[in-house]
This record gives sequence, structure tokens and C-alpha cells, in this order.
Amino acid sequence: MESATLSQIGLAGLAVMGQNLALNIAEKGFPISVYNRTTSKVDETLDRAHREGQLPLTGHYNPKDFVLSLQKPRSVIILVKAGAPVDQTIAALSAYMEPGDTIIDGGNEWYENTERRMVDASANGLLYLGMGVSGGEDGARYGPSLMPGGSHRAYLNIHNILDKVAAQVDDGPCVTYIGEGGSGNFVKMVHNGIEYGDMQLISEAYDVLKNVGGLGNDELAEIFGEWNRGELESFLIEITSDIFKVEDHESGKGHLVDKILDKTGMKGTGKWTVQQAAELSIAAPTIAASLDSRYMSGLKEEREAASKIFSKEGLTEEINNVGGVDKKKLVDDVRQALYASKICSYAQGMNLLRAKSLEKGWGLNLGELARIWKGGCIIRAVFLDRIKQAYQRNPGLANLLVDPEFAREMVQRQAAWRRVVGLAIQKGVSVPGMSASLQYFDTYRRGRLPANLVQAQRDYFGAHTYERVDRPGAYHTEWSKLARKARV
Ligand SMILES: *[C@@H]1O[C@H](CO)[C@@H](O)[C@H](O)[C@H]1NC(C)=O
Repeated sequence: MESATLSQIGLAGLAVMGQNLALNIAEKGFPISVYNRTTSKVDETLDRAHREGQLPLTGHYNPKDFVLSLQKPRSVIILVKAGAPVDQTIAALSAYMEPGDTIIDGGNEWYENTERRMVDASANGLLYLGMGVSGGEDGARYGPSLMPGGSHRAYLNIHNILDKVAAQVDDGPCVTYIGEGGSGNFVKMVHNGIEYGDMQLISEAYDVLKNVGGLGNDELAEIFGEWNRGELESFLIEITSDIFKVEDHESGKGHLVDKILDKTGMKGTGKWTVQQAAELSIAAPTIAASLDSRYMSGLKEEREAASKIFSKEGLTEEINNVGGVDKKKLVDDVRQALYASKICSYAQGMNLLRAKSLEKGWGLNLGELARIWKGGCIIRAVFLDRIKQAYQRNPGLANLLVDPEFAREMVQRQAAWRRVVGLAIQKGVSVPGMSASLQYFDTYRRGRLPANLVQAQRDYFGAHTYERVDRPGAYHTEWSKLARKARV
């Protein structure tokens, strides 16, 4: 490279995500410097930049040359594994950075780690952003959804780059300044929690259609393809349709999906989402059910042993009377159940975001978050535009479910939804996500719950007191005394 020309931005950490994001930035016309400790990664990236169109990208083999190759104030994106590698990379780079320069962590980092690093960085006059990046490898290369949080000044330094690099949808680039502190990482974490929910709900729809409806992979590919042309249109529905089409080349027989071990991996963002929901007293049963389902999927050997034990007792895994199901009706019902369940899951995620925003004073704009998820990211979906509109209509919306449009849709779909959950339960096909969503809906919409009895019990054994529906104040009753008297 010519050392005279300085790059507009730098990127350290050249695993596939890092390489792709660097190439994306270069392709949008922003000269970029890249660095990785492993020199072959730098060469690989340079080679790709060359092959993918002589992109303005320069490679650097040590932290000093890398940092000094950047225009001031410098902005450096780091894309390495969350945790200790981030601290190591910051230590290596910040030695050569100057006050006013910015570090941008693009990994799936725990938001408190970002807030800790922000404090450390500011001690050296450095600015800091924790930026959620969603969209997988393709998203990074061709347009991700970006969730930068932290220093607003740092964001302003690079927002022209981010605007071009992000996925583009009808109402703008899929990026916005999220808020202060670790808000960018937190929003990305909840995005991933919602993604867990979506994937679980889709897998349950598949399970019901396959095992209760008796549908084969070809039919499933077609149905998901059809759903992707309607209200369910989304990246995850689209790739699901594709998955059912792929044959198994390894064995040469049947479809690949049937050969895949039923054990789900995970990296932690779903667990964090559920932990945060519990911390903030936000009900997120659909997301929690999807996490629990991943845990139970991991018990493959135990499940196989259990299946044998219950078979011996007369409860087999096979579902009888598959032929008796009206396939067309079932498909239509499952579509509606999936949609309604999804709305409940997003309502939970949005409520968690709002609760955290209030706790931390982040001022999150829920409608704007829905907007930047419309493209680029894994949960991108047509219906996110409707969520955006719901929060634009009423930023103080208590719950997505009571937005007039969504409320109407829930009511229109609830009969089909109950049929699917009821049928699955009857047939012994577990639908933890769909039923959690339905329970969430049925609990939320009821003005009167049996919590009165729980309050009575708490007051009975613990004198925790209770309130009354008809007059103010805290009451305590000598329950056992009165009950004994009543018995006589
Ligand atoms: C460079 O690449 C290796 C893997 O080849 C990775 O472990 C490391 O974190 C990367 N990043 C940096 C900044 O060196």
C-alpha cells in the first residue's frame, strides 16, 4: 500500500464476519485498513479484496502500523470473540490510539463488559461503541442490521459509513444510534432472544405438520415457500423452505434435514435474555420456552432412554390416526398459530427492551428498533414494519398485543391457534413455544386472574397482607382461626 494515503476506518479481527464486514465497507467506497495477529488472515482478506473488485483495503501486520494507517480521529472496529479476546485486542491497539479516537466492538458482547470498557477507554480519552451486528456472514458482506450504542460523538464520526454499509430497506438504512452505554449490545442480545423464539416456533410448526399432519419434506418446502409470500414473509421462513429441499449427498438417500442430530447449539445470548427478563420482572415465556427446548434437545441420550421406558409402559412416540387429519385445514391453522405466537414473542422482547431502557435511562425508541430489524438481520420480516407503525402510533403502548391492529389479528387467529395447540397436546407433540405464547395471551387479556388465591395463601402462612378489590389499604386476616370457626 502507499503509506501516504490514510484509511477512513480500521477493522481488527479477520474471521469470516470481520473479513466480510471489511469488504462491505471497502465496497461502499470507504478506504479501510485491516489487521489480524495471524498474518495469513490479513493476506486472505487482501486477496479477497483484490478478487472481489480491487476494493480499497490495506492490510497491516502489527497493531502500530495498523493504527497509524488511519485518519484522525481514528475509528477501529474490532470483531473478535466476546470476552477476554476483546480486552486483549483493545490493549494491543489502544497503546497507539490518541484521545478522540474510537473503539467499536462489533461482537456479541455482554453489555456490562462494554460499559466497563467504556469507562477504561474514557480514562485515556478514547470513545467507545458497543455495536450489535446481525445478519450472519452474508449480512456482514452485503448489508447487516447495525445496532451501535455508546458515545454519540463516536457514532457521528462514522454514521455516514454505517448508513452505507447497513442493509437498505424502503424507509432507510438498517442502522440507528441506539442509545448510551451498552444499549447496542443489549438490543442485539434481545434481538437474538427473539430469534430463539422465532426458530423454536417455526420448528414446532414443522413438528405439528410433519408428525400430526403427516406432511413430507417436499410438501413442507412448498408450504413454507407459500407462507413466505404472505404475512409470515421473513428470512427464517424463507431459509426453512430451502432447507426442506436439500437432499442428503452424504448417504445418497432422502433429505438432509432428516439426518441432522436433534441437538441445538447456543452461544449464550438467549440465556442472557431470559436472565435479564427475570431480573427486570418481565414475563418472556416464549423466549424462555425456546431456551428450555434447546437445553432439553441436548439430552439426546436421556430422551432416547425415556422414549424406551414410556414405550414399554404403552406410551409410544408414534402418533396414531395421522390419516384422519384434514391437511389443508391444519396447514392454514398452523400458519395462523405461528403468526399469533410470534406476535406474543415480539411483545415480550419489546417489553424487556422498554424495561431495561427505563432502568438505564437509555431512551430506546422501540419503533425505530423494529425498523432497523426490517432488513439485514436474522429476524428480518415484513411484519416488523407493522410493529414499527404500532409504536409510532403510540410510543407508550403498554403491550404490542393491545395495539388496535394487532389486537384484531390476535382475535381473528385465536380459534385456529387454540386448535393447533389443543391438537398437539392431545397427540403428545410438545409445542412449548406456541403454548407459552397462547398462555401469555390468555393471561394478559384477562382482567381477573386466580392471583387472589395466591395472595390469600401468602397472607395465610406468611402474613404478607393483601389488597382488596373494593376498598383501599393493606389487609391481614387470621385465616386459620376464621376457617376453624367456620367449620364448626
Ligand atoms: C486473528 O485471527 C485469529 C484466528 O485465526 C483469532 O483467534 C484472533 O482473535 C484474530 N484477531 C486479532 C485481532 O488478532
